[in-house]
Amino acid sequence: MNISIRPVATALFVIFFSSALLERAQAGSGNYYPPVADKLTQDECGSCHMAYPAALLPGSSWRKIMSGLEQHFGDDASLDPASTSHITRYLVDNAADAAGTRHTRKMMRGVDTTNAPMRITELPKWISEHREISPREWRRKDVASKANCTACHIDASKGYFEDD
Ligand code: HEC
Ligand code: HEC
Repeated sequence: MNISIRPVATALFVIFFSSALLERAQAGSGNYYPPVADKLTQDECGSCHMAYPAALLPGSSWRKIMSGLEQHFGDDASLDPASTSHITRYLVDNAADAAGTRHTRKMMRGVDTTNAPMRITELPKWISEHREISPREWRRKDVASKANCTACHIDASKGYFEDD
């Protein structure tokens, strides 16, 4: 047997190097939360407000939300059982604690996943990121609600939550 070590070493180096670059790219766009990629979820959960990226809440929050759609923050958002379970699976599979990227871990800091809030706007990290916004800003007519992410984050539907 005479296996040359060089091509193997080169391949390993390339793999290592490109994954390091990928990690860097993800770190650079520090607040990228992939937009909902599932059509049914986009359609059904994006009609009253933006379809919130799954990676903004832990799976346990999505389960809680999806099991109480008849009384959804004062609205009836109920769906047939098949759609409900399809959407639940999509959201849970892509939830913050499933995604496990650097910034989703940050978003999950201080969150008790066994008793997680049903609102993104109740996560400790969300609250601290927004604590410097003046009350006047929240009362702007085009904002109306903290949950109206797109009023301030113009690229929210593309997954970016920069300070716009
Ligand atoms: C019939 C309208 C309607 C539909 C359909 C709907 N929602 Fe909502 N949703 C609301 C309202 C109203 C609120 C409260 C918004 C506010 O506080 O300003 C809300 C709030 C939320 C919040 C909390 C936002 C926050 O952080 O404060 C989440 C998460 C959410 N919805 C997820 C979903 C999901 C998942 C679906 C699809 C299964 C869905 N919604 C479909 C009306 C709807
Ligand atoms: C009234 C405007 C406003 C609304 C509404 C709003 N945000 Fe923000 N958000 C901001 C501003 C301004 C910042 C930047 C704060 C800073 O850098 O000091 C911010 C920061 C953030 C960050 C951190 C970005 C970073 O640089 O790490 C995230 C994530 C975020 N918002 C998500 C959301 C989500 C999700 C919603 C809706 C549920 C939302 N925001 C609603 C204004 C808003």
